[in-house]
Amino acid sequence: MWLVSVIGLSLLLWWWNEFWYVFPLKLRRLATGTGAELPPGHMGFPIIGEMLTFIWYFKILRRPDEFINYKRKKYGDAEGMYRTHLFGSPSIIAYLPPINKFVLHTDDAFTIKWPNVELIGRTSLGAVDGKYHARLRSFVSNAFNRPKALRCVALQVQPRMVAALDSWAQKGTIIAYVETRKVTFENIGKLFVSFEPGPLLEPMFKLFKGVIQGIRTQPLNIPGSASYHGRQVIDNIITLVIGGYESTTLAKMWAMYCLAKYPKVLEKLREENMSVSKNKEGDILTYDDISKLKYTSKVVEETIRMANVASLSFRMATKDVEYKGYKIPKNWNVILWLRYLHTNPENFEDPMCFNPDRWNEPPKPGTYLVFGGGSRLCAGNMLARIQLSLFLHYLSTGYKWKLVNPDAQMIYLSHHKPADGVEVEFSKI
Ligand code: HEM
Repeated sequence: MWLVSVIGLSLLLWWWNEFWYVFPLKLRRLATGTGAELPPGHMGFPIIGEMLTFIWYFKILRRPDEFINYKRKKYGDAEGMYRTHLFGSPSIIAYLPPINKFVLHTDDAFTIKWPNVELIGRTSLGAVDGKYHARLRSFVSNAFNRPKALRCVALQVQPRMVAALDSWAQKGTIIAYVETRKVTFENIGKLFVSFEPGPLLEPMFKLFKGVIQGIRTQPLNIPGSASYHGRQVIDNIITLVIGGYESTTLAKMWAMYCLAKYPKVLEKLREENMSVSKNKEGDILTYDDISKLKYTSKVVEETIRMANVASLSFRMATKDVEYKGYKIPKNWNVILWLRYLHTNPENFEDPMCFNPDRWNEPPKPGTYLVFGGGSRLCAGNMLARIQLSLFLHYLSTGYKWKLVNPDAQMIYLSHHKPADGVEVEFSKI
């Protein structure tokens, strides 16, 4: 008897979310004879949905891409979408290039969704929409993501990189994740909250004036008040530091890992960068020097592809949407499964191989979304690229390093990295 009860209860729990979320939509479709059907999939258990399956593939098996492969085998392709319930919400997973592109470029139907928007700030660039978003974006891009600003950034970040690498060599053994974090924070901190002279001073000064005025006034959260303005400013500085900190740290750590595993790539990189450093006779590199480093820029792209810093990106449907015969219901999340684009052999040949030469050709359309896309394309993508190029220059021309645990296990949550944080023996050449 108890066995029957257990089986009955398990079945009830397994189908609960399907009854709750999917059944009413199916009934309405039957009754009206109109409307598209939901993509195939399963909504999992009440409250937790398919989180256990997600954890199984990401944390236990440590083969996150099998999560999608398993669904592809089970349900077929269905225009690159599955229904599910993850991270506390009914969701549509999007894993093929066309549906990712559609979602990223349809701003009137999808809005950005942060699991914890309070932490990045409701009025920050990453959280606001529409005209205000466009205005903030252009301000932020002009301040540090366009060539004029990058020329200055290139000069500003180098002294700290040079000093950090030198100190690593003195230590002898380092954990790349820990050390790249420190130097990235120093540079990001310097770029976004520095009062030292430089072209970034003026926008930062204006921002900080806003903060200071905001702090001194009554906390009235109404548009136009100094307090409201101060809050906008704080939110944006936090967004920039958060956006630029972990992502760039991980990219540098991955560069060290991949180059240690692929010595031939390191050799080519070193060769290209040695020729520059010889020409410069000890001077620091300029933005224009970096633009000439063609092989280095391929190493940068390949590192960022392999790193998959932003594995998933979240949107929410603001209205019912139909895409190629399937429905994405209003208020459901859309989980853009970006990492799968970069690790799918249909998009990149031998995807787990670190091969900068693949960048001799442009990637297939829509397959390379490491920086997202559409109106929310990463606001710091060029800043990240230039920092990584400079890091590669000093690293490859002055130092050698060896992985302490070349077979370290990979972890995928919260970010993809070797479990030891890339411990290396590090010394001058
Ligand atoms: C390798 C390094 C980086 C990677 C892989 C990366 C990735 C991304 C991705 C995928 C998005 C889009 C998120 C979405 O649409 O849901 C994004 C947005 C953003 N990133 Fe980055 N990022 C990197 C470095 C940086 C840096 C250095 C900054 C600057 C400080 C930055 C600032 C931002 C901001 C402000 C946004 C929000 C843009 C908007 O909503 O308009 N990121 N980033």
